[in-house]
Amino acid sequence: MLVNRPENEEELQKREAVGVIRASRFVRRYAQSHKEITVATICAIHKEIFTEAWPEIAGVYRDEELSITDSDLLLPHPTEVLDLMKELDVLLKIHLAELEGCEGHILNFQVEVTEEGLLCVERLIKTTAWLHHAITAIHPFREGNGRTARLAGNLILERYGLVGISVKIEKENKNGYRKALAQIDKREDYEPLEAIISDGIIDRYHGVAVKYYNA
Ligand SMILES: Nc1ncnc2c1ncn2[C@@H]1O[C@H](COP(=O)(O)OP(=O)(O)OP(=O)(O)O)[C@@H](O)[C@H]1O
Ligand SMILES: [Mg+2]
Repeated sequence: MLVNRPENEEELQKREAVGVIRASRFVRRYAQSHKEITVATICAIHKEIFTEAWPEIAGVYRDEELSITDSDLLLPHPTEVLDLMKELDVLLKIHLAELEGCEGHILNFQVEVTEEGLLCVERLIKTTAWLHHAITAIHPFREGNGRTARLAGNLILERYGLVGISVKIEKENKNGYRKALAQIDKREDYEPLEAIISDGIIDRYHGVAVKYYNA
């Protein structure tokens, strides 16, 4: 196969940025469909990001040992990735089953505050934070694990009636975001990441409200 590779770093970055936009569109469409969300969907998101920037790694599990810059987390050996992703698939099914019936309550919650709606929103944010961290802790891909985790989180948020948050949280709140992930590695304390996700959702709704009222 003839691969049209990026010729320099600038071209690579441009293609990755375009890839993130393409992946975000894929996520939006997939969220609106009724297709099952599985580990294969996570690979498909990764594939969308890298298909033109780095086709050899797009949607493919890594075969290299990696570490995360400025983090003490020991990443799994590449030979463990496949089994860990299979395990993640099983856990994901269980987590998503717990959200069954939530979409209606969450959509309704945006019009009228109800106890069920509030419980469902809380459950959804917890599931999103869990999946986000699970992906980054396995680090299944050679590159782009953070971007894939953030987009997979958005897929869950959008599927169950909320809005996706900025995929640039890494740039906007680098220290807070990394600390939040490390807090889960160290103490299984998901609260800081859940707070970042909640703030991201509130920001998006605020944007919608401001746009609406200024129209
Ligand atoms: N302590 C940590 N525990 C788990 N995951 C972490 C930790 N620190 C950082 N990460 C994740 O690792 C990601 C970096 O991995 P990688 O370079 O594969 O992803 P990326 O998408 O290329 O990164 P970026 O977010 O900079 O675009 C970070 O974005 C973050 O999501
Ligand atoms: Mg990276």
